[in-house]
Amino acid sequence: MRHIMVLNPKGGCGKSTLATNLASYYAKQGKKVALADYDPQESSLDWLAQRPAARPQITGLAGHKDGLKHLARDTDVVIIDAPARSHGKELTNLLHHAETILIPVLPSLIDMRAAEKFITELRDTPTVKSRKVKIAVVANRVREGTLIFDELDEFLSAIKVPYIATLREAQNYIRAYTRGLGIHELPDYLSWPDQEEWGPLTDWLNSRAARP
Ligand SMILES: Nc1ncnc2c1ncn2[C@@H]1O[C@H](COP(=O)(O)OP(=O)(O)OP(=O)(O)O)[C@@H](O)[C@H]1O
Ligand SMILES: [Mg+2]
Repeated sequence: MRHIMVLNPKGGCGKSTLATNLASYYAKQGKKVALADYDPQESSLDWLAQRPAARPQITGLAGHKDGLKHLARDTDVVIIDAPARSHGKELTNLLHHAETILIPVLPSLIDMRAAEKFITELRDTPTVKSRKVKIAVVANRVREGTLIFDELDEFLSAIKVPYIATLREAQNYIRAYTRGLGIHELPDYLSWPDQEEWGPLTDWLNSRAARP
């Protein structure tokens, strides 16, 4: 069983968007997927409630209440949507559950500086060190033609974790969320640019580099 956590204490950077799209991606691949929502806001579980019955099934878990207590043993992939502001003991408890961590970061100076500090804190956590947890960064909501690229470059060379994908800002994410789908489940003519951007992300996740 695989555990992939989407984590960043900063609010609104795309954790639930990434978590729901990952759950949909793996379900579409025929995997038995559980989506564990550790955020009392339950954005991921709200998404799941909209999912059409005809789509590959995903099991929702209210992680913020029961942890992974109700997780079925034959689950292939567990996607964990972490809450914002997780630090200290709460963070340490969360980290015990994951062997792969994805950190979505918005291309804003404030968010990148906060992420740099958080990643340093995370890499020095005994749980992450001892369990050899694999961490990667995903830039999210990147708009073409914006002037943030120099700062993004600087941030990416300063952090010592792989930077694996850039996801653009797109209505498709909002469209998909509203319908309980992922961008891989939208019609190809609409979502091919986003599916292409997901290629390096899913390639990394499916590679040895993403496992301890
Ligand atoms: N690539 C994207 N393109 C367009 N909109 C996006 C994208 N990623 C996220 N969003 C939107 O940005 C908002 C915040 O995203 P999301 O809820 O996934 O962040 P979060 O990190 O889970 O937030 P929180 O910390 O509150 O849990 C949502 O309205 C979502 O639809
Ligand atoms: Mg969220």
